[in-house]
Amino acid sequence: MVATLLSSLLLGINFLTTSTSAAILSGESFTSMYYDCCKPACAWPTQGKFISGLKTCDVNDQYVLDDTAGNYCGGGPASSCIEQTPWAVNDSFSFGYASIFIRGADSTEWCCSCYELEFVDSDIKGKKMIVQGINVNYNEDQINWFSLTVPGQADWRSQCQERFGGTFGEFFGANSTGLTNVTQCDNVPVSLQAACKWRYTWYQNVKGPNATFSRVQCPAELTKVSGCLREDDRIFNSTPSTAAPLLQTYAATSPLLVFTIAVLLFLSFPQVLDLF
Ligand SMILES: *[C@@H]1O[C@H](CO)[C@@H](O)[C@H](O)[C@H]1NC(C)=O
Ligand SMILES: *[C@@H]1O[C@H](CO)[C@@H](O)[C@H](O)[C@H]1NC(C)=O
Ligand SMILES: *[C@@H]1O[C@H](CO)[C@@H](O)[C@H](O)[C@H]1NC(C)=O
Ligand SMILES: *[C@@H]1O[C@H](CO)[C@@H](O)[C@H](O)[C@H]1NC(C)=O
Repeated sequence: MVATLLSSLLLGINFLTTSTSAAILSGESFTSMYYDCCKPACAWPTQGKFISGLKTCDVNDQYVLDDTAGNYCGGGPASSCIEQTPWAVNDSFSFGYASIFIRGADSTEWCCSCYELEFVDSDIKGKKMIVQGINVNYNEDQINWFSLTVPGQADWRSQCQERFGGTFGEFFGANSTGLTNVTQCDNVPVSLQAACKWRYTWYQNVKGPNATFSRVQCPAELTKVSGCLREDDRIFNSTPSTAAPLLQTYAATSPLLVFTIAVLLFLSFPQVLDLF
């Protein structure tokens, strides 16, 4: 009984701290694609503890140096940078960027962290990617979801048409559906064409493949391009932690601390008694 009680309380602590999040930064996920010309959510300095922040670009493809600069999609100067798009290393491995939602985690935990994805179904089953999270998948708040950043996907609120100029429809495809074939990649801005074609070559234009994901230290290939590096990027890699062993460590090494925390938690959150 006491052990159960302490475990429950410690689980409560796990939710309140960020140091044990590694355990929930792996699992299975839906995937999809998106593209927009807005400031990626992870570019805001409040989205995590960063050694250096995510690059954003203005309409002339120059870096916006102020990380608090307004979102292009809200009338500000900061838009997404063209090079934060996928590329193939070989037929079975690609690098890329993604908008992420991880159930049970907070955007400050996944912003600019990197994940190895392995596709588990569709025609690209067995292929792998390492992606860096640059955006928050606000459309989804229930299930794990990695939406790959791929130009040629639907142009949210026609903001890319506005950023790059061009004719709606021919440029980024039909409203809310995006491009339908590789020939249309010839219509997107030259700087985005290679990444647009990646979807029809390496990615085989599959629809919503599922993938396993697990956090990895960010490869320099990705951070060099995005500029973004989390403070815990290397720490995470050298000391992979999971919730369970940490719980045991607390309980084994410091029963008095556990008891003190338990009492404090009771005082702070009397509603935990409802659990029993
Ligand atoms: C593809 O590249 C990845 C990453 O560099 C490497 O681990 C893998 O062995 C390569 N696969 C092939 C088939 O060359
Ligand atoms: C695209 O769809 C959005 C949202 O439904 C709408 O506001 C916009 O006018 C549409 N644009 C065009 C060019 O049809
Ligand atoms: C690509 O899609 C466009 C627009 O739907 C269509 O006009 C064109 O014929 C298609 N091209 C090929 C090669 O399928
Ligand atoms: C991905 O998983 C969902 C849920 O299990 C399934 O409905 C869907 O068909 C899967 N996608 C593919 C491409 O197999």
